[in-house]
Amino acid sequence: MDWNPGKIVVLTGAGVSAESGLGTFRDAGGVWTRYDLNEVATPEGFRRDPIKVHEFYNARRKNAAGAKPNAAHEALARLERDCPGEVVIITQNVDSLHEAAGTAAIHMHGRLDRATCASCGAVWDAPLEMHAADPCPECLEPATRPDVVWFGEVPRALDDIAGHLDTAAVFVAIGTSGQVHPAAGFVSEAKRAGAHTIEINLAPSDISELFHQRIEGPATQSVPLWVESLLNA
Ligand code: APR
Repeated sequence: MDWNPGKIVVLTGAGVSAESGLGTFRDAGGVWTRYDLNEVATPEGFRRDPIKVHEFYNARRKNAAGAKPNAAHEALARLERDCPGEVVIITQNVDSLHEAAGTAAIHMHGRLDRATCASCGAVWDAPLEMHAADPCPECLEPATRPDVVWFGEVPRALDDIAGHLDTAAVFVAIGTSGQVHPAAGFVSEAKRAGAHTIEINLAPSDISELFHQRIEGPATQSVPLWVESLLNA
């Protein structure tokens, strides 16, 4: 096959894991309709009540641990395996379903299955349940926290991500509402670099009009169809 679409950069959001049984944040019944994000997803909330924050993430970690990758995750793994062009997956999700499907992903908001120490910065594989009194395995301080990025904190790997967006031929956003920056601005950065931009979502998002192309439908149907069409272009 001498066809090469160039570098494909994929950004995923909670919608790609929705059909694996992991809730989204802003849909009906979503996580932020049931929890106050200021209490459970900010450094201030953690300082105020680390026990409540650990309970929130313990529940999400258990939910994620029991989830399986779905046809959308599998299709992206097929794309990474079979596409002659470079494929880069950036995810806002803290679950590890891309890894479970066999792809590496850049976790710009961190990972539920990792833990870190708020005192010394050590990072390790998170136990299924974490508690505020747990001592850090490195410095023994009771300052362990989920290795996720909270509101008001800086997302991870932004320099790498900027480099990928500057060299993308195709940028695809899958299952994200486009309400949280900097991820919501990635489509504009990719467009400035000349990329063809595609939004794959169940419904229109806040940034739909920024994309050249939209594919509407549940990710487990729309992503495999898109990958099939691309690989058999
Ligand atoms: N298939 C495709 N898209 C879906 C599906 C599905 N089955 N179900 C829901 N969606 C879409 C919704 O239409 C919505 O656009 O997924 C998106 C979910 O949006 P959010 O709940 O806002 O999730 P996300 O965009 O990932 O949130 C970004 O906000 O709270 C922070 O750190 C958190 O990473 C998260 C960030």
